[in-house]
Amino acid sequence: MLYAKAKTSGAERARRMLMSRGLLSKEHLVMRKAERVYFPLVSLNEKDKKLIESEGLDIVRLPAALRGSKRRSHEMEISKLLDEKEKKLLARGFDQYGSIAVIDIDDALRHKEKEVARAIMDSNQNIKTVVAKAGPVHGIYRTREYRYVAGRRTFMAEHRENGCTFRFDVRKAFFSNRLSYERARVRDLSKPKENVMVMFAGVGPFAIEIAKANKDSKVVAVELNRDAYRYMLGNIALNKTSNVSAILSDVKELPPEYDNYADRIIMPLPQSSLEFLDDAFRIAKDGATVHLYMFGKKEEAPDMVKLAVRESAKRNGAKVSFLFSREVRPYSSKEVEIVVDFRIRRRRPG
Ligand SMILES: C[S@@+](CC[C@H](N)C(=O)[O-])C[C@H]1O[C@@H](n2cnc3c(N)ncnc32)[C@H](O)[C@@H]1O
Repeated sequence: MLYAKAKTSGAERARRMLMSRGLLSKEHLVMRKAERVYFPLVSLNEKDKKLIESEGLDIVRLPAALRGSKRRSHEMEISKLLDEKEKKLLARGFDQYGSIAVIDIDDALRHKEKEVARAIMDSNQNIKTVVAKAGPVHGIYRTREYRYVAGRRTFMAEHRENGCTFRFDVRKAFFSNRLSYERARVRDLSKPKENVMVMFAGVGPFAIEIAKANKDSKVVAVELNRDAYRYMLGNIALNKTSNVSAILSDVKELPPEYDNYADRIIMPLPQSSLEFLDDAFRIAKDGATVHLYMFGKKEEAPDMVKLAVRESAKRNGAKVSFLFSREVRPYSSKEVEIVVDFRIRRRRPG
């Protein structure tokens, strides 16, 4: 079990950094010993390790005897239930949306899923319900089927992220906690008094987090799925972000009043964002910043996006400059999700 070691004086900053990047393990206790604070970590890749070290934190292994004993880890509990072969059939860890834990369990292990769920609930008091993924994210609304497994019988999550609360039925609208760092990043880049267009807004996380941080910005959030739109309206009220206008529409059918509207555009539909580039050029003001998300092979995705953006710029008589690009998360064995930030410059007439 790895921990990030921080001095007590820098502990709060370290905690916030690890939380915002989804690196803090929720299944283990934070430990304090001799003027140092030890934060339990989720499993890390090389990039995560470099990031943590670049923040001046040491990554250390704590002996079992020193680790928190109040809460038993779900991994320890599950170890007792499953043999080595069976453990491979349970994807590592679980995703958490409010009090709902989502497990990914192979059909061959289904006879043990209730015991696995009990172990998760026993080791984490915040989890009241366990559901299992029952299919891939699919369709234009990017939703997924889930199966109830144990605990309180509900699919309604009340999830906290970056200081905002989101209520939604996990079966009826897309939401991924793996994008929380990106949402904080884009929120932090947003400036006061901007007109922001969030295409593909889902239950509202990008729009609401930006609007909450910039009360004098106007945020327009466009969503096609009626259920997601309905939850977004509730979330706007819940977070008191009356500067968000939710629109139930296809982005392609936005009326001309949004031409030349936005200082910032967010395009979080990674399987087909590129199909909406001409719409982004139509909606962008001169100087607008765009944050575009896309799936693709790690080595090829940034160049593929840049090529499509340049071609769209040409069609729309504009120029672009690329500002930033990063890998957001792994998507499948071969593909990753990336983000590319770019600026649009309209050519001056004449
Ligand atoms: C990957 S989800 C992103 C949701 C949200 N931005 C988030 O970060 O959780 C994409 C969303 O785009 C919506 N969508 C798909 N095609 C659309 C279109 N043509 N116009 C508007 N929304 C669309 C889907 O219903 C889905 O909620």
